[in-house]
Amino acid sequence: MYSPLSFIFPTIIYYILMISFAPWYILAPNPACRTKCGPFEMKYPLGTGYGCGSPRFHPFVACSSDGNQLLLTTHTGSYPITSISYSSSTLTISPPCMSNCTFMQTSPANLGLDWASPFQFGPSIFILLSCNPSISSLTMKGTLICDPSSTYLCPSIYTCPAVVALGLPLFPSINTCCVYSPANLDSNDELNLQELKCAGYTSVVSLGDVPSDPMQWQYGMVLKYTLGGLDSYNIAPSCHACELSGGVCGYVPPRNSFVCVCENGVNTTTDCYNYLQGQWLSMSTTYQVNWKAWLGVLAILIFCGIAS
Ligand SMILES: *[C@@H]1O[C@H](CO)[C@@H](O)[C@H](O)[C@H]1NC(C)=O
Ligand SMILES: *[C@@H]1O[C@H](CO)[C@@H](O)[C@H](O)[C@H]1NC(C)=O
Repeated sequence: MYSPLSFIFPTIIYYILMISFAPWYILAPNPACRTKCGPFEMKYPLGTGYGCGSPRFHPFVACSSDGNQLLLTTHTGSYPITSISYSSSTLTISPPCMSNCTFMQTSPANLGLDWASPFQFGPSIFILLSCNPSISSLTMKGTLICDPSSTYLCPSIYTCPAVVALGLPLFPSINTCCVYSPANLDSNDELNLQELKCAGYTSVVSLGDVPSDPMQWQYGMVLKYTLGGLDSYNIAPSCHACELSGGVCGYVPPRNSFVCVCENGVNTTTDCYNYLQGQWLSMSTTYQVNWKAWLGVLAILIFCGIAS
């Protein structure tokens, strides 16, 4: 026997499904570029991945796949970024094989920046540790590399008991320690510990209030970055407006034209305010549909009530 309910029930289910899924579907943001990576606000020229930030900074800077760590990647490895200063165009990395006063380790690898990358070593102090033979013969292309005016840091770092991990005795002789100025890096901008015959190294961003206390030094390696001419002239003005509207500056290959990636996963060539208005419009349309849908369900229920 034919019953009107066999038509009415699928209709009701359809409306209920529409009501529960439509707003969720429209509001779900899935932006290709994120505004945060771990603790960092992501701003131009840095980006969380391909298509984000400036094309010159990818793939050197990217957010890890779990979104928790911003990494600098060069031909020698990947290094966690521990701080960013957009105003001074610098960032600090913390290479995992670097030593510090509490934890020293032999570093088998070299550390270098890529020639084509926009990064250069900034004003941190490199200290080579446990060098053998002693530093008086540490040369790079025939020139001595250790900076005698900074040798006073060696007795300090050598008071750290962790030096024994580098095969040194407690309070070792400072002729195995070399304060190495980044300006003296080789043509590949590379710290080559094997060539220098040093077991480990550390890098100091700041000596703190008590320069003789290596426990209070701030360890890390400062890198400076530069914006290319194209980056600063063509992109920056539109990018600023994009960031102010909550978007992320990005680029579209192959011509790498500017795009503003908005929170809701939509790209614009201007900023996200325009799009947000569009979103409000579509949201209210959705709620209107829902409102009509509810009315429809109510009507059907009343109809069913009357019919039975
Ligand atoms: C928006 O731009 C980003 C970055 O270029 C890209 O990855 C993403 O696919 C774009 N999204 C859309 C919907 O075009
Ligand atoms: C010292 O190095 C270890 C190993 O890389 C790290 O876990 C620790 O946080 C560092 N300590 C300081 C004070 O930088």
